Amino acid sequence: MQLHKEIDETLLTADLDVHLEGLDFTYKGSTNSVLDSLSIDIKGPQLVSILGPNGAGKSTLIHCMNKILEPTGGTVMVNGKNVENITVKEMAKISSYVPYTSTDSFPLTVVDTILMGRHPHAKWGSIKDDLEIVHEALQLLNIEDLADSMFNELSAGQHQKVMLARGFAQEPRILFLDEPTSNLDIKYQLEITRILRRMSREKKVLVIMISHDINIAAKYSDNIIVLHNHKIHSVGTPEEVITSEMLKEVYDVDAKITMDNGKPHLVLCDDCTYEPLPEDSGVYLP
Ligand SMILES: Nc1ncnc2c1ncn2[C@@H]1O[C@H](COP(=O)(O)OP(=O)(O)O)[C@@H](O)[C@H]1O
Ligand SMILES: [Mg+2]
Repeated sequence: MQLHKEIDETLLTADLDVHLEGLDFTYKGSTNSVLDSLSIDIKGPQLVSILGPNGAGKSTLIHCMNKILEPTGGTVMVNGKNVENITVKEMAKISSYVPYTSTDSFPLTVVDTILMGRHPHAKWGSIKDDLEIVHEALQLLNIEDLADSMFNELSAGQHQKVMLARGFAQEPRILFLDEPTSNLDIKYQLEITRILRRMSREKKVLVIMISHDINIAAKYSDNIIVLHNHKIHSVGTPEEVITSEMLKEVYDVDAKITMDNGKPHLVLCDDCTYEPLPEDSGVYLP
């Protein structure tokens, strides 16, 4: 009798591939579709950013890619297999997911919190290897000094780095991240995005992240997906996708694009008209 269903090894060895074909998604009880017939193919180790305004469906899209949500139409294939036929355990073995500011607040140390990321790989006698992997993740994020701190006593930025370390410690082939730098200051936004890019290169990981920082996404991503009005607005390299037209259509802002080291960089157009304060307003600047 087979107690534990074996992992489909082909998922671990097949070429990295997230393939959507006519993906539709509507939340239960709603009549509005959040994702409307999305088709796209993301292949190989690379850093892909998903951009789009609030409510565009970015988080929902990632949840459909990693089996948290079941599509209401169309198909999602991961590494050549329909996610319908991939078990939750298999998904955890090939991918990890770092959610938008986690509400989990465990009274655990940082090391124990990150060790939980090793759960899909659990086997007898592996604790020493697991601790080595946890320490590698702590080192990578430069948070070794937090190892023995309590996770629920950390600042939002530290919290976010620990959740990233947990995602890394899972040793995924595909890493899904929902706004991984939202609580970090500019120095760490850059540092984390660089680390993610390096992971895609050195550890051959397909990193798919939702981002709100268009300039950082343009600088480091290999490809960008822009969501707008529940559909894919555009897909391609940063040079192809980050244009004044896209920014106007999708974000309704006027911006010009300059090139910085071959990468597009947006500069918001300053067409604001300032209402001067009346002279006797009593407000004086030093
Ligand atoms: N659990 C839910 N139930 C119903 N509607 C939801 C739920 N989660 C998100 N939505 C709606 O789906 C749309 C897309 O949400 P989301 O995927 O979170 O967008 P984004 O991540 O781009 O901001 C929004 O209109 C949002 O209100
Ligand atoms: Mg979101």
